[in-house]
Amino acid sequence: MTNMQAEFKRRFPLSGEPTLVRAPGRVNLLGEHTDYNEGFVFPMAIDAGITMAGALNGSGLVNLYSLDYDAKASFPVEEILSSTTEKWTNYFRGVCKEFQLLDFALQGMDVVIQGNVPQGAGLSSSAALEVATAVLLRALHGWDYDDVDLVKLTQRAENDFVGVASGIMDQFASMMGRKDHALFLDCRSLDYELIPTPFEEQGYAVVVLNSRVQRGLVDSAYNTRRQECNDAVKLLQRELPAIRSLRDVGVEYLQLIQNLPGTLAQRARHVVTENDRVLQGIKWLKAGDLDSFGRALTASHRSLQHDFEVSCPELDLLVELALKVPGVLGSRMTGAGFGGCTVSLVPRRQLSLFEETVTKDYLAQTNLQAEMYVFSASPGARLL
Ligand code: GLA
Repeated sequence: MTNMQAEFKRRFPLSGEPTLVRAPGRVNLLGEHTDYNEGFVFPMAIDAGITMAGALNGSGLVNLYSLDYDAKASFPVEEILSSTTEKWTNYFRGVCKEFQLLDFALQGMDVVIQGNVPQGAGLSSSAALEVATAVLLRALHGWDYDDVDLVKLTQRAENDFVGVASGIMDQFASMMGRKDHALFLDCRSLDYELIPTPFEEQGYAVVVLNSRVQRGLVDSAYNTRRQECNDAVKLLQRELPAIRSLRDVGVEYLQLIQNLPGTLAQRARHVVTENDRVLQGIKWLKAGDLDSFGRALTASHRSLQHDFEVSCPELDLLVELALKVPGVLGSRMTGAGFGGCTVSLVPRRQLSLFEETVTKDYLAQTNLQAEMYVFSASPGARLL
């Protein structure tokens, strides 16, 4: 019996055999703040995630037990409201609610939840929670509902129920990831391609450093950036009436972008060059050219730092320290920014030197203890 089965029996002794699901967090390799501009992203699902064990209970109540918080919560399927006191349950509630809005007949259930995605670090613990919930609900009720529709449903749960205006990248990566692959996603058409990651075979590791700076400003700044991107589109439409979003503006228009008011020019330049970096980066990866791919990572950071202005001194310091370690191919902040994590491509033989020097210097300069994770590309959400 797995730990989760045993925990389920312990917390819900009267319930039947549980169904087990797991959904991963993600680290974004390239393509930051491009998803809500209908652009390109390149995340990979990681080997940290959320696991759930659940069974229908024949009642009208959803009973949740979080092993991480050692907390219990219940709500009636009849009236699903957001909770101000048990905030951790809102992701689960939101996904339930979204299914109900589509007229799926939600039943009561017992569910145990456990996770190991660092929270508030930009590694999409909330997307993992939403996707795990959706996959569990679909399995328990035997609903026929397509994976991509399910991704969209979880994004609506996050946007409308939890109230965070995120794009679609995180949920998509958590659902569709594959072992040893990263996911190239077109956020307009939702066409995607799983691209093999040659990091390990070439002796490199995807290393994530948690700055331990909580992403304080993130919500308001995120919304401001979205607005600025829309404003840039409106102004650019005067010259380019056919464009719908910054996705439609290629690098050949960088000159035109220079004519936008200062801040908007910077924001638009980031998105336009970042989309291009994703397209180029994928070509390089397919050709096995990790040096060029690594340089694209660092260029992405510079653009996020100076043009999109979503980095912070601690993330910039982690990138500088990482790039000083011999053999490191590239480094950048990952996720929404204003704290959270960096991602770097580090030679495997340098891993201990990397951890030692970067965390030591970071501690000396910030008084913060960075945490390091080495992730491999992992499967997306699945039944266990
Ligand atoms: C957060 C959002 C994503 C995406 C990134 C920035 O992770 O949830 O949708 O916008 O920020 O790339």
